[in-house]
Amino acid sequence: MFQADLFKEKKILVTGGGTGLGKAMASRYLQLGADVYICGRRKSVLDECADEMMKEHGGSVKTISCDIKVPEAIEDMVNEIWSDGPLSGLVNNAAGNFISRTEDLSPRAFNAISNIVFNGTFYTTNIVGKRWLKEKIKGSIISILTTWVYSSGPFTVPSAMSKSGLATMTKSLAAEWGNRGIRLNAIAPGPFPTKGAWERLAPGDTSKGMMESIPMKRTGELDELANLAAFLMADGCEYLTGEIVTIDGGQWLNHAGNFYDMLKNVSDDEWEQLRSMIKSSNESDKAKRSV
Ligand code: HXC
Repeated sequence: MFQADLFKEKKILVTGGGTGLGKAMASRYLQLGADVYICGRRKSVLDECADEMMKEHGGSVKTISCDIKVPEAIEDMVNEIWSDGPLSGLVNNAAGNFISRTEDLSPRAFNAISNIVFNGTFYTTNIVGKRWLKEKIKGSIISILTTWVYSSGPFTVPSAMSKSGLATMTKSLAAEWGNRGIRLNAIAPGPFPTKGAWERLAPGDTSKGMMESIPMKRTGELDELANLAAFLMADGCEYLTGEIVTIDGGQWLNHAGNFYDMLKNVSDDEWEQLRSMIKSSNESDKAKRSV
């Protein structure tokens, strides 16, 4: 799908890059020639992931222990990366989440999520962005959102609120920093069943009914997300900025309109009956018209 050296001489940082979606994107950037940096809170998990990726694709993956809730830790990480040379791309992937009735959330519970997703992502974006602006270097940022930024996110309100803020950050900074070569885009994934997300969002068998709500009747493949992240990061689409690209098998669109359920509930015979009922109403109306 992509030329083999698409990201040659690029340095890309993926936050939360040791597991799940972050690992899949980092691995694709490495495969396509980037020098990759992954950060997270568990160094052993990052190191194991880096070894695995380098065994598979060669190249260089460096790991940095960093909690993005702490701005000073991000500054240290960015200094460490810059000692190798400037970054070219940043993927804001690190997140925290769990499902809960909103009335059961304490302020600490809200902060546990929003301090990572909302504050941490802003800190990282701003610290990296300021370096690029100061050094007059082009850069590209991709933030991982969710489709809840369009559709609402009941039972995941701290995450949905935080990700909605990041959608606004993406569009605002695309406008504010675009004249200096920095572009920001976002990906809104639907259900991709990674261990980290599924343990907190679909504990037990609570994901049972989910497949019914996805027009494509399947969850996303990590490769599909990684391909989109490669496309958005590549120089070949440099004019693309401030966009949120959804990858969800059409799931969130089935909230629109009133008739999605008819896909599964109405047989061919029933469609015929509906058609003749509508036709007879139309004919009766027509018969009463004088012109
Ligand atoms: C209600 C809960 C709770 C729950 C914890 N709390 N779990 N409240 N329901 N299920 C409350 C606690 O009681 C406590 O409040 C407060 O939250 C903090 O609890 P801790 O156990 O200390 O949480 P902590 O470990 O700090 O943070 C939780 C976390 C953590 C931030 C979510 O698990 C984490 O770092 N996760 C990272 C990985 C992750 O979450 N991945 C999923 C991302 S999925 P009190 O007041 O009692 O002290 C994702 C999906 C996007 O983002 C969409 C895809 C479609």
